[in-house]
Amino acid sequence: MAGKEMMSKSPRWDRVWLGGHLATLAEGAEGYGEIHQGALATLEKRIAWVGREKDLPGRPDALAREVLELQGRWITPGLVDCHTHMVFAGDRSGEFEARLGGSSYEEIAREGGGIRTTMRATREASEEDLVREASRRLTALRAEGITTVEVKSGYGMETDTELRMLRAARRLAADHPVHLQTTFLGAHVLPPEFEGRREEYLELIREEMIPRAVKEGLADAVDAFCDEIAFTPQECESVLLAGRDAGLAMRLHADQLSDQDGAALAARLGARSADHLERASAEGVAAMAAAGTVAVLLPGAFYFLKDDHPPPVSLFREARVPMAVATDMNPGSSPVNSILTAMNLSCLLLGLTPEEALRGVTVNGARALGLHEVRGSLEKGKMADLAIWEVGHPRELSYWLGRNPCAGVVKDGEPTRS
Ligand code: NIG
Ligand code: FE
Repeated sequence: MAGKEMMSKSPRWDRVWLGGHLATLAEGAEGYGEIHQGALATLEKRIAWVGREKDLPGRPDALAREVLELQGRWITPGLVDCHTHMVFAGDRSGEFEARLGGSSYEEIAREGGGIRTTMRATREASEEDLVREASRRLTALRAEGITTVEVKSGYGMETDTELRMLRAARRLAADHPVHLQTTFLGAHVLPPEFEGRREEYLELIREEMIPRAVKEGLADAVDAFCDEIAFTPQECESVLLAGRDAGLAMRLHADQLSDQDGAALAARLGARSADHLERASAEGVAAMAAAGTVAVLLPGAFYFLKDDHPPPVSLFREARVPMAVATDMNPGSSPVNSILTAMNLSCLLLGLTPEEALRGVTVNGARALGLHEVRGSLEKGKMADLAIWEVGHPRELSYWLGRNPCAGVVKDGEPTRS
């Protein structure tokens, strides 16, 4: 029948890429999941076929409306930056100079600077200002192959500014071809006006900020900073549980500057991730392994704060705790606007292999955001988020410093422009 014949002749895919190689990072695949002389096809927003070019079920131009030649380049999953504070105003270069002169991050924080410095600038900034500045940061990340990013609030520490930050983050998602998750981090540090009234601030978070953020659809997750200069484990627990009860996923800034048993707390509460973890204990690692909590490593903060106590990477590895890597992009502890730099630092300073670093910014980054079933690897049925690289091997993504070999980004099946 004519109709049937036409159906069978019309291409079944939108696009097919061939003439290059794939690093699928697929579940169960060895190493990078390398497929040399591979091909990948998309239909609408999803990956429709992944395999060796010679196994394609027909002539490429009969299979897809568009055939794209990779000329020896590599495709990886679009990269995931699962921990950023990219919405903020001002900078902390003055404190950078002070630290180079001998002051510590904690001293500056205790004297009312640090996160509170950025709080003052952010409270002054309009939503428009926040969107404009963050948009530049996001553009730079996208140019390095990022297709999924997380953005936290936490520089308002008052209801209006916290919500404004989250609204700015949502607007970024509307303006850029990127999958963006927002995290409410009202419990970053105690705002000065609540000095001596900690419980009142925590109540404001639980009773006003979280309900409003959730009601207005502004937050996907809740986070807290568990540290001597921020909040106690008990305080963080109360905030995370309030978020959980309102329907948010949980994350925790844990054991960065001191061991607070934050890793174990995140695991016990069923948080998706515990982040930083420089001072996490062996018990904390074991608890994370048992609970399936992702360890989000933030080598930019480790580097920028000149920390000398790396997170327990070999324990994570032995216990099979999934390790994600992220930029932590923020003005105080990690002014690192580059996921490739974070990958390089994760290898040289934290001891990851280039393969672990790439897993960290793909599958494991996606896992930290609860997205691993839909994003983070090149597998049939997943969203077609791809990064195309001018490299001879994917290990080069962790190797170069200050060179961006990204030659193209595809978001939900559509090639993007930065
Ligand atoms: O992830 N550790 C807490 N929060 C941020 C630092 C924010 C800042 O110093 O502005 C972090 O490193
Ligand atoms: Fe952070």
